[in-house]
Amino acid sequence: MSSNDKIDISNQVRFLTKVTVNDILRKKNEGSRIAMITAYDYCMSRICDCADIDIILVGDSAATVMQGYKNTRKITMEEMLMFCRGVSNGTKRALIVGDMPFGTYQTGMDNAVDNAVKFMRTGCDAIKLEGGVEVVSIVKRLTEMGIPVMGHIGLKPQTTSLTRGFDSHGATAEEAVKLMEESKALEEAGAFAIVLEKVTTEVAEIITSQSHIPIIGIGSGPMIDGQVLVLHDLLGLYNEFNPKFIKRYLDLSKLIGKAVTQYCSEVREGIFPNEAHTYHMPKVEKEKLQKIVGRQQY
Ligand code: KIV
Repeated sequence: MSSNDKIDISNQVRFLTKVTVNDILRKKNEGSRIAMITAYDYCMSRICDCADIDIILVGDSAATVMQGYKNTRKITMEEMLMFCRGVSNGTKRALIVGDMPFGTYQTGMDNAVDNAVKFMRTGCDAIKLEGGVEVVSIVKRLTEMGIPVMGHIGLKPQTTSLTRGFDSHGATAEEAVKLMEESKALEEAGAFAIVLEKVTTEVAEIITSQSHIPIIGIGSGPMIDGQVLVLHDLLGLYNEFNPKFIKRYLDLSKLIGKAVTQYCSEVREGIFPNEAHTYHMPKVEKEKLQKIVGRQQY
């Protein structure tokens, strides 16, 4: 890498070599773990990108953490595409995956293709969709068109939450076999990676060892090729959802609350802004103005 390949942003060295789908596949072969995170806007994706994240997922979790909806089914294509544009502007290096929202890939092949293309046009490098055997034909078609697809099985918040809530998956041998079949079917259809959400660690380990593509877990234990967390959960910005698989690395809502409270009191007490934040007229212009104002008053 030449010295032109890196720039320094906020004291962090930023390597500009773009992560590709092949780089992600290679990590599986090398046994290096993949770090994936969600982001939904320019500022946050830029910070995550500089922090050396491998994959940024513009997740439909934006429904809850960005829009305050009660579930992910409410978010629309237009909202998701706007988030993807922001992330695409903020990301130079990480692979960007756009999460197709509920109802945008289950309503016919042409519709699924049109919507996936819309995601790719925002600057995404791949799309993700939830489902096993029922989405295999879509995964195959998109992959054949050259659109990389990430699968998502186990807990599928768009749908399984309706029938069995937010339970973990793979607690029985029968369920384990179904998950293994789904993973195999997605791999055969051309998916380049699979998110495994809230699956027992025993089953996650078997699926990981049987698959030739990276298996990225959330709430699926450590014996897996990579991990993904929702940025707002990790930062402690969204505290309405508290499953035990989340690790909070910061309590950012507390820090932000403290900063805004201090700002309010400084404004009210006349402490902010002070001289350091203030612009002045040149002396001659000020004197000229004082004469004008003086005359007006007179
Ligand atoms: O939408 C999302 O953030 C996701 C992750 C939890 C994998 O799908």
